[in-house]
Amino acid sequence: MRRKTKSCCFPSCRPPAGRLGGAALLAALLVLSGCGGGKDNSLRIGAALYTQDDTFISAVAQDLEGLVREAESGTGNKITLFIADGKSSQSTQMDQVDRFLARGCDVLCVNLVDRTAAAVIADKAAAEGVPLVFFNRQPVAEDIQRWDRIYYVGADARESGELQGKLVLDAWRTDRTALDRSGDGVLQYVMLEGEPGHQDSLLRTEYSIKAVTDGGVEVEKLANETANWNRAQAAARTAQWLEEFGDGIEVIFANNDDMALGAIDALADTPRERWPLIVGVDATAPALEAVAAGQLYGTVHNDGRGQAEAMLDLALALWNGEDPAQAVELSAGHYVWLPYRPVTMENLKEFQEK
Ligand code: BGC
Repeated sequence: MRRKTKSCCFPSCRPPAGRLGGAALLAALLVLSGCGGGKDNSLRIGAALYTQDDTFISAVAQDLEGLVREAESGTGNKITLFIADGKSSQSTQMDQVDRFLARGCDVLCVNLVDRTAAAVIADKAAAEGVPLVFFNRQPVAEDIQRWDRIYYVGADARESGELQGKLVLDAWRTDRTALDRSGDGVLQYVMLEGEPGHQDSLLRTEYSIKAVTDGGVEVEKLANETANWNRAQAAARTAQWLEEFGDGIEVIFANNDDMALGAIDALADTPRERWPLIVGVDATAPALEAVAAGQLYGTVHNDGRGQAEAMLDLALALWNGEDPAQAVELSAGHYVWLPYRPVTMENLKEFQEK
């Protein structure tokens, strides 16, 4: 970073450690008004989250915050990060984006509530000449291409589905009798799906199963339902399925770790001799603990920290007028893709130490 900075009030209203608190977020927004509009010589980043109540997104926001602090202490320059909680309302998020723009943010990072709202936000940012980085919730390509300073930072949903399916395939190949409890040569499964319409729900659901069937294993879907990425909803769905199918469930696929943990909660509530095999996606801290405890067979690491790093690197490069392609690995001029990695008991340590 080249520019020197004026100090702003953000560091005093940093959210507390752990999940971002509602009060802290509110404070951040109030501080936003207090900082005054117009540009000064600090980099101002406005980050809009679809909801702070999402474990993965909340971790990305915390990583971004930590990285901003590191970047500041490394350079002595000032970066102000504003974080807004959209509370799952697109109209709330629109207001937050308007406020970020009105207050002179230099770069916006937006985790859309509704992926179809991308065009409106893209046009607002373009009209103000403020670069925009969408993350985690991928807009359609036409929306990304509305302006050359619009980017997407995320991970390839299809890859996560394939890796999750391969975990199950490996388990089948390693110890088929343990998995095929009915002994019928067919893998009976249930699928806990994320939010409808989210690219990760659609593609993980499809490609996890495709990886298993491409590996030559016949499957039978007993049930599938959305639990909206949510642990409590997943526990409720799983409890119903356990009543309905009992030990007939051989595998529980969950589109993310929170829902896998919900399935574990339901199983823990109805003691039984053997549990179905459970797989998730994200490698959140509680999920890694569940892998260590032998409750979660495996997960797929969703590199939230890498996504936060890419957003900050992009923001710094854009603010400094540098070529973003020198700062991050850009595909097709607009996309930064972070790789997924499978996690099981075998390589767990690598992820726990991160
Ligand atoms: C994560 C989920 C998260 C969702 C939010 C997905 O990539 O795997 O845990 O709830 O993004 O958009």
